[in-house]
Amino acid sequence: MKKNCFFYNYKNKKYSITPNGVITSKSHSNIALIKYWGKHNNKIQIPLNSSISYSLGKVYTVTRLIYQEKKKSNLSIRVFFSGKEKTSFIPKILEFFHRISFYCSYIRDFNFIIETYNTFPHSSGIASSASSMSALALCIMKIEKKLVYSLKEDFFLKKASFLARLGSGSACRSIYPGLVVWGCHKAIKGSNNLYAIPYPYEVHSIFTKIEDTILIVDDEPKKILSSKGHKLMNNHPYAKDRFKCANQNMNRLISILKIGDFQEFGELIEHEALTLHAMIMTSRPYFLWMKPNTLNVIHTVWDFRKQSNKNIYFTLDAGANIHLLYPIQEKTSILKWIYSDLFSYCKKIIESFCLYNYLCLLFWWT
Ligand code: DP6
Repeated sequence: MKKNCFFYNYKNKKYSITPNGVITSKSHSNIALIKYWGKHNNKIQIPLNSSISYSLGKVYTVTRLIYQEKKKSNLSIRVFFSGKEKTSFIPKILEFFHRISFYCSYIRDFNFIIETYNTFPHSSGIASSASSMSALALCIMKIEKKLVYSLKEDFFLKKASFLARLGSGSACRSIYPGLVVWGCHKAIKGSNNLYAIPYPYEVHSIFTKIEDTILIVDDEPKKILSSKGHKLMNNHPYAKDRFKCANQNMNRLISILKIGDFQEFGELIEHEALTLHAMIMTSRPYFLWMKPNTLNVIHTVWDFRKQSNKNIYFTLDAGANIHLLYPIQEKTSILKWIYSDLFSYCKKIIESFCLYNYLCLLFWWT
């Protein structure tokens, strides 16, 4: 592993933290507008294209990390999810701790108990790895902050994002509120593959608060995990074109966000979502995340948009569920329509929102 500015050398330093302690952090889920799909084969969690997401209001994970000084050399980790012990979560967390231990060597001196819960229903189809890995990374950084009093907020967040990435790619974007970019893109200053950054350019007021209504059409755990899907991009016949397209879509989005054209925005995110699913459907082995009700919702949204001229557009995650994005100004009428015309296709509806302004920074980490 290469040393970089996130490498922490604690040799010869005396701990300034008590041998036992408790740390709590929360982190929000996010929905990608331009999707991260594909990562480098021989490097750890390095994306093959840049991505941008909105962090989501109301939909978050809270994690309490209890650390206890180790008496024996073996690492012990226990995980509790919504009050119940989950041994099945341990391998992923051990892998995460193993990856970050090079950059946070102090974790080798502790055993951990992780207690976590989501504000959204488990198995609701909302990706929880982004918010949970991000919350855990923030907890680790709070330990580091106890060791290094002088640690600046900017470094704290960058390194938290860097660590979260090692747990799950999309998690590195969940460190920040609002619009967040991960992955090197020529047109975005400061963008890089190691950690996410807040979107640095002008954003039209129409995009400062938009609604995101999440339609859960399938609440079963996914049969194919996104980590497997990413791998299939490495010898995908259309991979090259996909990365080119994602790159161009990012350029287009930059100007759309500035101009404030919601229709262009909507068409772009729908195209991105369908491209992601097209990649999945044409990989080898191929598979399908959409369910019949995913298509029912998409067609109903398209018909409604045509008839009403409303600004309502969808995007999809790595699964069957749908995020409907629309401006806050149209919330009342659109939400009413969603409950009347789409509810029958869904197991659940979760009302969320995407906020982009500096005020959100004030309450995001509380
Ligand atoms: C379709 O971040 O879940 O949601 O890095 O293997 O944990 P890992 O993958 P993950 O992939 C997210 C894929 C996506 C698009 C996105 O969020 O950008």
